[in-house]
Amino acid sequence: MKKVFKIVGIGLGIIVLLMAIALISISASDIPSYEVEKIDYKVTSSPEAIARGEKLAVMLCASCHLNHQTNKLTGQKMMDAPPEFGEIYSQNITQDKTYGIGDWTDGELVYLLRTGIKRDGKYSPPYMAKLPGMADEDINAVISFLRSDHPMVKADPTPDVPPKPSLLTKILCRVAFKPLPMPTEAIPLPNADDSVELGKYLAHNLDCFSCHSADFKTNDFLNPELSEGYFGGGNKPLDLQGRVMLTSNLTPDKETGIGNWTREDFIKALKYGQIKGGKALTYPMLPYSQLTDDEAGAIFEYLQTIPPIKNKVERSIY
Ligand code: HEC
Ligand code: HEC
Repeated sequence: MKKVFKIVGIGLGIIVLLMAIALISISASDIPSYEVEKIDYKVTSSPEAIARGEKLAVMLCASCHLNHQTNKLTGQKMMDAPPEFGEIYSQNITQDKTYGIGDWTDGELVYLLRTGIKRDGKYSPPYMAKLPGMADEDINAVISFLRSDHPMVKADPTPDVPPKPSLLTKILCRVAFKPLPMPTEAIPLPNADDSVELGKYLAHNLDCFSCHSADFKTNDFLNPELSEGYFGGGNKPLDLQGRVMLTSNLTPDKETGIGNWTREDFIKALKYGQIKGGKALTYPMLPYSQLTDDEAGAIFEYLQTIPPIKNKVERSIY
């Protein structure tokens, strides 16, 4: 009998030892690298594309990359990144050739934005945005803006601070978070005359679903509707002091969601943060004032068509 215990004990010891070796080697190594597919892509710039790209980048990139000292996209420490992910800094994405993206090719930029793989092959963890479902024309617009003479992207030699991802982040990047596939077919813009279709496109590509579903860990970026608790709220992004800010239920449930809201109530909340009879919305729910009323209204119309989820979320305002 004793012998059996001894053998089991040695077995367990070996397993623990192997796990320790695995952990040490993961922490000593880094975020995993992948082969970079060379993408033959050249941005087609126009004043319209730049304007559209500015609008998208202000809503999608500036919240992380805009530095309030330089007033440019020179990057900053991300105070709202969960501390267990490590110490995270967004990077300089101005046109500076040393610290910014001045010497990245258009193809390298598309590849990163679509798949999450940087030009050196390193995978960019979930704290950097990915745009797997954005229409080709909108991706073109974002890159046109990054290449434009807009003051926000003008070359600025502010050095990058490299992120210090934690062991947990490195492990998750090996087992859970994986690069997204590069789209193999063209992705068209939604039909703007169909407000439900337009609203769905915006609700997915402006990342509303990723904050407003159950949990970042169970979001499905390729098929947003398959995310757990799709738009049912209760996810836990942080504010700039690191406090949990529960997200609202945006499904059409009449008691716990926005089933009793009017289109006007929604547009006011989304564009200006104003809530009927309540305190203004706070960080990280930033006002989407760049959206037209038609676009904001389209998101409302789409949200009214999705399955209601009963989930009461109390606001966490401090
Ligand atoms: C939630 C925060 C966040 C958002 C939103 C975000 N980024 Fe980033 N970005 C980061 C972080 C953090 C890094 C560093 C990632 C790393 O080290 O792998 C980064 C890295 C990058 C890089 C690589 C730069 C380099 O020198 O390695 C580019 C290019 C970039 N982002 C562009 C964009 C664009 C364009 C958008 C908008 C469509 C955007 N990002 C939205 C946080 C963000
Ligand atoms: C970074 C995470 C994040 C993103 C992205 C985000 N939201 Fe929010 N949203 C929140 C949080 C957190 C709250 C609650 C804020 C509060 O209590 O002050 C909220 C509140 C709201 C509310 C108020 C609902 C209510 O019942 O009071 C609406 C409407 C809303 N968001 C719509 C949107 C839409 C539409 C988008 C995409 C265009 C979006 N949000 C993107 C985090 C986010």
